[in-house]
Amino acid sequence: MESWKIEQAPLIQAEITVPGDKSISHRAAILTALSNGTCVVTGFLPSEDCLSTVNALRALGVEIEQPEPTTLVVHGRSRQLCAPEGDIDCGNSGTTMRLLSGVLAAQPFRTRLVGDASLSRRPMNRVITPLTQMGAKLQAEGPKSAPPLVIEGGKLTPIQYISPVASAQVKSAVLLAGLFSHGRTSVTEPIQSRNHTERMLEWFLVGPHVEGLMVTVVGEKTPESRDFHVPGDISSAAFWLVAAAAQPGSHLLVTDVGLNETRTGVLAVLVRMGAHVREIIEVEEGEPYGAVEIQGAQLKGTVIGGKEIPNVIDELPILAVAGALAQGMTVITDAAELRVKETDRLAAIATNLRAMGVTVAETDDGLEITGGAPLKGAHVSSFGDHRIAMAFAIAGMFAEGETFIDGVECVATSYPGFYETLQRLVTEPQKRISVVGGLPAHDK
Ligand code: S3P
Repeated sequence: MESWKIEQAPLIQAEITVPGDKSISHRAAILTALSNGTCVVTGFLPSEDCLSTVNALRALGVEIEQPEPTTLVVHGRSRQLCAPEGDIDCGNSGTTMRLLSGVLAAQPFRTRLVGDASLSRRPMNRVITPLTQMGAKLQAEGPKSAPPLVIEGGKLTPIQYISPVASAQVKSAVLLAGLFSHGRTSVTEPIQSRNHTERMLEWFLVGPHVEGLMVTVVGEKTPESRDFHVPGDISSAAFWLVAAAAQPGSHLLVTDVGLNETRTGVLAVLVRMGAHVREIIEVEEGEPYGAVEIQGAQLKGTVIGGKEIPNVIDELPILAVAGALAQGMTVITDAAELRVKETDRLAAIATNLRAMGVTVAETDDGLEITGGAPLKGAHVSSFGDHRIAMAFAIAGMFAEGETFIDGVECVATSYPGFYETLQRLVTEPQKRISVVGGLPAHDK
């Protein structure tokens, strides 16, 4: 098991880029694979999760070249995939398993999707229910609808699905399946989740119709082959944004980062907590992206809940750390979804914050964090979850003494190069740091 030792860090004065967006990279690989020609994807995130999607698509007969880590050349198969030779391994990636379920529900063969120990505990009934209603046969072999997931695909009928969860993965699985059915398939979600699939369907000219919380696709359409650029991942940037936001005197500029409005809730929360944040959208087409500039301040506690939750769902571990560094209480509510992520994130955050001397109450769907007490270096665990590992690396930068984080291999699922960036921010705090292809590159 790999561990990190983190020491208290100086002020941050830096300009950085972050690797490509994970959610967008998965979708770019899938939609180009379904398209009617060859597409070049640039800015792709070469992390373990996204490579699980690429390898799954290869196993389904899609030719994908990777001339460099962040570039894919995908030869689309006009929606027709081939039966795989064995099980498809989705690794740690829920996005791979759930999004591909939508595609495989429409293919005229049987597929078995497997995952690692963490993915094998995650609920799949949320995609089994709508895809079964469309006519596919799906069976979870694990307890409580957990993977392995066996899919017998075939001809699909369109449905109008009212989703009980605000989940972009569920919405995307149904919309992807809808591309294959004869007629109009719609999904209505209780709260808006990230809209990358909708935006990308539009980019590949099979545009959905969006009306409030309802998204409709017209079936039997093939995505038109086009190149696509993946911007940097705001969820990866969030770790450095909090590291800078929570220290008066720190100043950080993150460039080429995705600024999709369904993902930037973290910036709104940091503004409420007292940080000085400037968001500059430079490109609007496809996925909007640009720069975020942040200046540190003495943060104050806030309440994070309700409609805001899907927009900050992956940033809640690092926002909880921000809460611990802020004066006063930070309350997170309506976030029971965190219990079914790569680990039970509410329990993991509470355990690790307590180990660092923070007073935390864990509720059914959130946390109450009493901020402002000095953090103490401690021995904490990633619980096998990349975002827990990275959030507590940032906490360690603020703690008195040394912090040890065990089980950090999982960081490779979303952010290869995270630790190298951290070391360079600490040892060369005045430099511009660029991370390309998941590995630290030369200073710009
Ligand atoms: C994702 C959606 C979110 C998010 C996950 C990636 C996606 O999950 O937590 O990291 O790419 O669609 P849910 O849709 O299950 O909330």
